[in-house]
Amino acid sequence: MKHAKPEAAFRVKVITLFPEMFPGHLGLSLSGKALEKGAWSIETVNPRYYTTDLHKTVDDSPFGGGAGMVMKPDILDKALKAHLPLGRFIYMTPRGTPLTQKKAEELAKEPLLTVLCGRYEGVDERVLEAYKAEEISVGDYVLSGGEQACMILLDAVIRLLPDVVGNADTHAEESFQNGLLEYPHYTRPAEWTGPDGIPRKVPDVLTSGNHAKVKEWRQKCAEDVTRERRPDLWSAYVSQNAKESKKVK
Ligand code: ADE
Repeated sequence: MKHAKPEAAFRVKVITLFPEMFPGHLGLSLSGKALEKGAWSIETVNPRYYTTDLHKTVDDSPFGGGAGMVMKPDILDKALKAHLPLGRFIYMTPRGTPLTQKKAEELAKEPLLTVLCGRYEGVDERVLEAYKAEEISVGDYVLSGGEQACMILLDAVIRLLPDVVGNADTHAEESFQNGLLEYPHYTRPAEWTGPDGIPRKVPDVLTSGNHAKVKEWRQKCAEDVTRERRPDLWSAYVSQNAKESKKVK
């Protein structure tokens, strides 16, 4: 095929009852430019297409009773089978393992992800078992469907693909990359008065031209903010550093 587009290095298949939600905001800004360039590609699959009844039924009431509806395993199976290979198969659910920067980095190395987005109460457990789904959560709150969660996951992964964010240093310095939250940022004007009438100057060290001092100040800020806001991250950081300094000895 002479005019066939080369396959993107990072491909995503999204199983969703709302394909019109994609690429959504992923079609804008950095991820949008990367999509245009062909750095990644997205294909949506609507399980409704695989129904055979008049009402195009994709869900049914839960065995054992209770509120809500459950996405049917037979329909999802047909949709999935029609789109093999799946690559790494992910199901977005608040029951999943929390999404972290480390997980995003790991997924950015994959050539193919298939993300199943649940609606209603979720999907029949047997599909998750049979297809060995990796369950991922984007936080301890319940969204009305997996689509927004999927977009969060894809956004975090796509910006890590080669050549999507211009400068490699951007990743090296940002929050979580070294286990700490990020230090604060400032730009011109060097002095600014806000609605509270208080003039605020940029910290002197940042205009000193002393790069070593800037680095030191940023490290301290990152440590302080992490200790204050995220004791969980701080403990992990401290024990990681303790392990590393033992290794050096
Ligand atoms: N679906 C609904 N809520 C979710 C969450 N917090 N994370 C992942 N998928 C979801």
